[in-house]
Amino acid sequence: MQNYESFCTFAPFFVNNCKVESNNPTNRGNFGTRLGVILASAGSAVGLGNIWRFPTEVGNNGGAAFILVYLCFVFLLAMPVMLAEFVIGRGSKANTVGAYRTLAPGKPWIVAGFMGVLGGILVLSFYSVVAGWTLHYTVQSFANRLTAGQDFGAVFQRFVSNPWKPLVYQLAFLLITHYVVSRGVERGIERFSKVMMPVLLFIIVVLMCCSLTMPGADEGLRFLLRPDFSKVTTGVVLSAMGQAFFSLSVGLGCLATYASYFKQDTPLVSSALNVCIIDSAVAILSGFIIFPAVFSVPGMSPDAGPGLVYITLPHVFNEAFAGLPVLGYVFSGMFYVLLLLAALTSTISMHEIATAFIHENYRLSRQRAAVVVTLVCIVLGAACSLSFGPWSEVKIWHRGFFDLFDFLTAKFLMPLGGILITMFVEWYLDRRFVVDQLTNGGRLRVPGLPILLFLIRWVAPIGVGIVFLNEIAN
Ligand code: PFF
Repeated sequence: MQNYESFCTFAPFFVNNCKVESNNPTNRGNFGTRLGVILASAGSAVGLGNIWRFPTEVGNNGGAAFILVYLCFVFLLAMPVMLAEFVIGRGSKANTVGAYRTLAPGKPWIVAGFMGVLGGILVLSFYSVVAGWTLHYTVQSFANRLTAGQDFGAVFQRFVSNPWKPLVYQLAFLLITHYVVSRGVERGIERFSKVMMPVLLFIIVVLMCCSLTMPGADEGLRFLLRPDFSKVTTGVVLSAMGQAFFSLSVGLGCLATYASYFKQDTPLVSSALNVCIIDSAVAILSGFIIFPAVFSVPGMSPDAGPGLVYITLPHVFNEAFAGLPVLGYVFSGMFYVLLLLAALTSTISMHEIATAFIHENYRLSRQRAAVVVTLVCIVLGAACSLSFGPWSEVKIWHRGFFDLFDFLTAKFLMPLGGILITMFVEWYLDRRFVVDQLTNGGRLRVPGLPILLFLIRWVAPIGVGIVFLNEIAN
């Protein structure tokens, strides 16, 4: 095994047996602590995908069986891609485009970097629409306007199709994201994640305890915990895999960008494992919040789709706490704050992909680079938001902007990125370089390392490839 210092100073370092000079700035930001690394990466992973999308998918795809398939994908496919991103990011100390330029100069792999920047901007544009809705519902909830006796479906529909209101909330959300990103890696992203993630975890535990004590909660628990494998169709398997990728933020170089701020002694494998465990736990605990609550109110269905959080839940909060409305008020307020914090820690990481690229590639200050990204996302995000209202007739490939961006990223750029990233690490990079990254130059003992390398080399690209081709064929 190579000596740690000689191999891990990285400038110069060895890729495919040739010496590579790193031309990246040496004064880039760093995450200051190991906890910061885990909380920032988990913050990226934990988002609307866990609290809004996951319960929706579980509800639509038959409950516990879906969760089991999902967990297999998290650890067999998504975690290897995450590790590959960590290797690329920390090994290059550059943004996602600069990473390929440094590790594979003059080679077409750089396309994967550009795909990541594009994907990050597209995800942020449509994601901030839903984040804006969440901000609106948080405000409504605290203003006590989500009270009983309303048709919440009509209320939601009226709000999302309004030409201005959702845009204002989306803009507000993008500006908060902008503020954190422009403060930098340690003072912005890390500090924010270190405060917000514990708050988020605390809210989840409180809400779960409340939810589990509701009458009829056991039916919700049964739905979550008793697998019905007859429900597992090819469609369910595909959804589970898409969900795993989206939820762990892999395939766009987002975690590679974060890993470029890791220190040389950050343990990559255990960090990735921690992030996967935290992310899966939050997704499942969100199920423990939502389903017992939904089943506690007669006539409510767990498969209400994307409206679950904005239509079903306000109704549930009112009905379940009809005898004690103040509790419903607190529960509902805490729930939307939870969703808001989760969304924010994720949008920060999406923003950072393009900000880091523009900052380093065009030598603009971080603040200016962040302004460029925010402006682009305001324009594209407005198109996504308007596709629920005045622009609902504007279609590209039979899809409105919101659905188009969602499709392009979750079904196309993320899986394709996942395939390219794992192939790059295992087929292009020198095996010694990869092993050195994963073991910190031989200092760390990583049990099961050959299995991990096997997953990165074969299982992840082939597994994701099959799902990807299936999607394209459809
Ligand atoms: N993982 C985030 C979620 O579950 O909401 C979404 C996400 C974040 C996707 C960052 C992609 C990304 F680059």
